[in-house]
Amino acid sequence: MRLYIIFLLSVVNGGMSNHQPAEGMPCEMANLQAFCHNKDLHQIPRELHPNVNKIDLSGNLIQSIPEMPLPFYTSLQCLDLSSNQISFITPGVFAHMTSLLEINLSNNNLYELAQIGTEGIGLLPKVEILDLSHNSLYNGMAEYFIKQAPALRYLSLAGNSIIMISHEMFQGSPSLVEIDLQSNIIMEIEEGAFETLLNLSRLNLSMNSITCISDFSLRQLEILDLSRNSIESFHTTESDDEYSLRCLDLSENKLLRFPVFPKVNKLVTLNLSKNLIQLTAESSHNKMDYMENEWLDAPFYLLDQKQSRNKSSLNLSQLVYLDLSYNEVKSIPDEFFESMLSLQTLNLSKNCLQTFENKNVQISNIEHLTCQYTQNFGYQEEIHIGNIRPEDCEKEDLKKINFLVILTVVLVLSVIIIGVGSFFCFRRQNFSQQFKA
Ligand SMILES: *[C@@H]1O[C@H](CO)[C@@H](O)[C@H](O)[C@H]1NC(C)=O
Ligand SMILES: *[C@@H]1O[C@H](CO)[C@@H](O)[C@H](O)[C@H]1NC(C)=O
Ligand SMILES: *[C@@H]1O[C@H](CO)[C@@H](O)[C@H](O)[C@H]1NC(C)=O
Ligand SMILES: *[C@@H]1O[C@H](CO)[C@@H](O)[C@H](O)[C@H]1NC(C)=O
Ligand SMILES: *[C@@H]1O[C@H](CO)[C@@H](O)[C@H](O)[C@H]1NC(C)=O
Ligand SMILES: *[C@@H]1O[C@H](CO)[C@@H](O)[C@H](O)[C@H]1NC(C)=O
Ligand SMILES: *[C@@H]1O[C@H](CO)[C@@H](O)[C@H](O)[C@H]1NC(C)=O
Repeated sequence: MRLYIIFLLSVVNGGMSNHQPAEGMPCEMANLQAFCHNKDLHQIPRELHPNVNKIDLSGNLIQSIPEMPLPFYTSLQCLDLSSNQISFITPGVFAHMTSLLEINLSNNNLYELAQIGTEGIGLLPKVEILDLSHNSLYNGMAEYFIKQAPALRYLSLAGNSIIMISHEMFQGSPSLVEIDLQSNIIMEIEEGAFETLLNLSRLNLSMNSITCISDFSLRQLEILDLSRNSIESFHTTESDDEYSLRCLDLSENKLLRFPVFPKVNKLVTLNLSKNLIQLTAESSHNKMDYMENEWLDAPFYLLDQKQSRNKSSLNLSQLVYLDLSYNEVKSIPDEFFESMLSLQTLNLSKNCLQTFENKNVQISNIEHLTCQYTQNFGYQEEIHIGNIRPEDCEKEDLKKINFLVILTVVLVLSVIIIGVGSFFCFRRQNFSQQFKA
């Protein structure tokens, strides 16, 4: 508490000593908007037009948001305080600012505010957009800012240090439509953390440390970005409910098998690039037998081609884009594409595809098939065709490339050997000449 008072005093003092002379208006005004970007300001100017509706204070040296003058600007809708050094916000300073729709606090020192242990910044009556990215916030700190944010629709917490999403985190912001949580270190998401956000439609969890999605149950989500995590399996809760998910990005993870999706879904875009997915088992014996029960319900894994499986388990009737490039697909089960009646773009490049095991594979509507064997040296061959013939994806090119690679290596090696050899010969000649002299 004492620390807090001292801190307040120093803020007041700082305020006095840095008081801007009234004649030196620090900001350019236009259409009731104040542009005060990069002006070395230490505090929010007091002398702006009282009806100002936007203040851009980004890139200054502001350290705190005191009680005044903000509430004086009653028409203010948009406040940009990004890239300052803010570590203190007076609780309740925004509580009566009923015009304020957007606050940008990106790239400040807000973790310090949360460390002091105040009750938070208080009510944000009408704020719809709040950017708290790049503030070194960790577990439990975001709550200080969104505890009372009934109108909040967009929240960015990108580039912080959050490890866990607790089930209380978003309780004070039930209207959220979009949350950006990319580039944190999220390892755990508590059950119920997002379920209460009935209008949540976009969620970005890219670049975190999530290892498993075991009970996906967010029926309201439309766009989910889980790329660049360490996800090994993606499972949906067993249910006949309809899911709204249209775009799912699971690229650059460690998936071993095709994800388990809701039976009734609207998936249009599915990115599974850069995983470890196999669609068929190499051998259904010994390997991973210990997990058999758990793995049996997974479509297209472990079960070998001859075994029957429940086809209805894979229902991707609306899927248009499927990116399966950079995986470990060796062969494709007969029924794999059966439900994918809308599929138009399929990327199978950079797999270990030996052949379409069975020539009956049906991919009816495909317009763009990419089946390239990209090897080193940037050699690429792409195939875009309407009706696939397995031959188009076969290894002819691969052999050519291998031959080329070997030839190149041999050539380079022989050049090196000749080079090194002649260098030594030259040295020896020099040496014997010196010796003689
Ligand atoms: C907040 O400001 C940062 C830096 O100026 C900018 O990159 C970001 O897009 C802004 N956020 C919003 C929601 O406009
Ligand atoms: C969700 O959105 C609907 C339609 O826009 C709106 O009527 C409703 O109040 C919102 N719910 C919440 C909790 O904000
Ligand atoms: C999520 O964040 C990543 C990382 O910056 C970005 O590339 C991607 O476009 C975002 N995804 C969505 C759906 O906005
Ligand atoms: C899938 O994600 C990868 C990044 O890992 C990206 O290069 C590729 O373009 C994406 N595919 C589609 C169809 O968007
Ligand atoms: C497959 O999904 C569609 C909607 O995308 C739905 O109408 C249909 O009933 C589903 N089929 C099964 C067998 O669940
Ligand atoms: C296959 O799916 C149907 C319809 O969803 C279900 O009734 C049946 O029990 C499933 N069979 C197996 C073996 O899982
Ligand atoms: C796979 O091919 C599709 C369509 O050609 C393309 O959009 C996508 O970026 C490719 N994926 C990668 C990882 O290059």
